[in-house]
Amino acid sequence: MHSLVIFASGRGSNAQAIIDYFKKAGGANVTLIVSNKESAGVLDIARAENIPFLIVDKQAFNDHSLVEKIAQYKPSLIVLAGFLWKIPNSLVTAFSNQIINIHPALLPMYGGKGMYGNHVHQAVLADGKRESGISIHYVNEAYDEGSLILQAHCIVNAEDTVENLADRIHRLEHFFYPNTIAFLLSQFPEKLD
Ligand code: GAR
Repeated sequence: MHSLVIFASGRGSNAQAIIDYFKKAGGANVTLIVSNKESAGVLDIARAENIPFLIVDKQAFNDHSLVEKIAQYKPSLIVLAGFLWKIPNSLVTAFSNQIINIHPALLPMYGGKGMYGNHVHQAVLADGKRESGISIHYVNEAYDEGSLILQAHCIVNAEDTVENLADRIHRLEHFFYPNTIAFLLSQFPEKLD
């Protein structure tokens, strides 16, 4: 059984989609949820699903001991699902090619510091773009710059609001993120329980 550790700062709809997918499909379990925000909706999901969680402040997040704490869960992948802090180099090095992120736009457009959630959709609409999408990528030392794994596109209508563009993007995410994780796990060496 593969172990997945999810990092999330917000509502947690992607975390929920991943949990639901693997409950049905089997083969992986979300074993830990890490959040930087005590009031994040994702922690209600963790409680409801009986998944252990860890709340970190900036200091704990950047402390080397976090590597050991997470290593105890033996994750095949660390999955960022709406997590807003930059991942420290100690984690990137310890879990090289095992940390993935989802971004709600077609990187390299609309990426980088400050570009998250609705800020991204606002910028896409302000530029009058007729297309947006999602990017799933490996995490390296720079924000939103690791190698791409998958992009999926969607249309943007002239009358779109931030809210309905965000909804369309979330629907893409909820389908493609769990399926991409399943694909990546299928490339790992066989795990005996
Ligand atoms: C998602 O749309 C995700 O792509 C985005 O935050 C949202 C979290 O939603 N991530 C970023 O913007 C990262 N730069 P959720 O909490 O409902 O899963």
